[in-house]
Amino acid sequence: MVVNEWDQLKLHLQEWVEECRPISAAGKVAEYIPELSKARQDMLGIHLRDPRGQSISSGEARTGFTMQSISKVFTLILALMDHGESAVFSKVGMEPTGDQFNSIMKLELAQPAIPFNPLINAGAIVVSSMIKGENAEAKSARILSFFRELAGNPGLDYDLQVYRSESETGHLNRSMAYFLLDKGILGCGVEEVLDIYFRHCSIQVCCEDLARMALVLAFDGTDPTTGKTLIPRRYVQIAKTFMVTCGMYNGSGEFAIGAGLPAKSGVSGGILTLVPGRYGIGVVGPALNPKGNSIAGVQLIERLSRTFDWSLF
Ligand code: DON
Repeated sequence: MVVNEWDQLKLHLQEWVEECRPISAAGKVAEYIPELSKARQDMLGIHLRDPRGQSISSGEARTGFTMQSISKVFTLILALMDHGESAVFSKVGMEPTGDQFNSIMKLELAQPAIPFNPLINAGAIVVSSMIKGENAEAKSARILSFFRELAGNPGLDYDLQVYRSESETGHLNRSMAYFLLDKGILGCGVEEVLDIYFRHCSIQVCCEDLARMALVLAFDGTDPTTGKTLIPRRYVQIAKTFMVTCGMYNGSGEFAIGAGLPAKSGVSGGILTLVPGRYGIGVVGPALNPKGNSIAGVQLIERLSRTFDWSLF
């Protein structure tokens, strides 16, 4: 009997999750946002979704966590939908940095003085300032409703404890925002942009939400389960390219070799990834490797990709 890929996933996913879980012991849960340090070190969950709406989950796939940097992919898309490519890329670049996600080092060196890409913190702060809306509240409301539509989940909302925790301790982001303001590339004031940025980072999701959002990217902007186009194809193409080149920060090259899939990680341990034209995938594992990516989550995705030959390359 030939066992197809979906059947194999159903048969083995749990076993692979349990094999990868112990790797978490070698990682570290993020502490620089105090509220994130409460996450369980050995948590690991995954949800895979196909275009027919079938899904498979394993591990702690239903536990909530905040999107953190994963949100940056979708705020970039919204800014592109609001302003178009040339306006967005006049304020943020397209190149990987090879530095940590919150590094301030290259900001002063870059010519023109714009952040290297929209997925590092400095670039994402600029993108947050470009979202259309009368004030911070209106801009954040547009972001939240866009995310709810992509996830097909009208219940998505902020984790206000994480939001407050980051807002109180985000001194490095605050200093970057002042630098960007000085360079004339912020579309609004420092506290306004940080409020928008901290809010979208603190949107609470589970693996299923991420998998649904990823599925829209896997199908070039159309939700295959409803047939509704939510994002123009060109902007999905841009987002997926950034995910490959910068989505796992200074671990992006290693992940491209190991898994070969567009992906975006967050410091809460979430990873959103996809197999183009096939699956949306959400993973969570709060223990991080030194590059800030889920240590067990990366292993699990690499394992799946190699088993089923999913690499794009
Ligand atoms: O600005 C921060 O530091 C966080 N809100 C997001 C950083 C993040 O998720 C980096 N990911 N690996």
